[in-house]
Amino acid sequence: MKKLMAANWKMYKTGAEAVETVQAMAGLLNGQAPEGREIVIFVPFTALERACGAMEAIKGAACGAEDVYPAAEGAFTGEISPAMIRACGASWVLTGHSERRHVIGESDSFVGEKTAFALANGLRVMLCIGETLEEREAGLLRNVLERQLKLGLKNVPADTPAEALAIAYEPVWAIGTGKTATTDDIVETHAICRSLMREVLGDKADKTPLLYGGSVKPANAGSILALDNVDGVLVGGASLKADSFTQIINA
Ligand code: 13P
Repeated sequence: MKKLMAANWKMYKTGAEAVETVQAMAGLLNGQAPEGREIVIFVPFTALERACGAMEAIKGAACGAEDVYPAAEGAFTGEISPAMIRACGASWVLTGHSERRHVIGESDSFVGEKTAFALANGLRVMLCIGETLEEREAGLLRNVLERQLKLGLKNVPADTPAEALAIAYEPVWAIGTGKTATTDDIVETHAICRSLMREVLGDKADKTPLLYGGSVKPANAGSILALDNVDGVLVGGASLKADSFTQIINA
């Protein structure tokens, strides 16, 4: 399986800034993802169409939206549908990012509705899961991951190909804090995630990429990518600059 090198630009970058960053990356990468790597950048809605156009200059790279609403169209002010995302040229979407869960207040079952609807409507989905520090300290790690995975993948269409789905484990306490999980934490937690994925996805679980996210940077990306059950990384802050994300892609 290729390593999936994913960037989440969160609420950063206008269309023009997104194009500038993608063009700089295209130059640094000589127009293609390195051997054995696939690149995806999750971009704010307002920059999506322009960023997708610019991404055509990088072979093996794609764009995604950061969220989606689980309906084809309708009176849902402020929301966007899978078809709108695809019309921008994007093929991916994030669901269940911890900022959607903990800042905006999305429930596990709403995340599950989005995941199933996006998959059924032609998008590849990266479902994010992860525990807060309080949950980890209370010994609830496995329970939280199990609940988020089971409800997040509830109603996933049975004919979904393994490559249409990815899971990103992002411990909430490691996001934007500079505090990366230790390699032991990552190995232990990814093993739990993989066994839960097998319970929910059966045979497909081992072909579904499992990514780590949370304070990934050029200095730690290589050692994280070398760990068991780590099929890629999802990068926030360190993905905003072309040179630092390119170093991570090449790590
Ligand atoms: P940071 O890399 O800034 O910690 O963000 C991680 C993240 O939330 C990616 O989705």
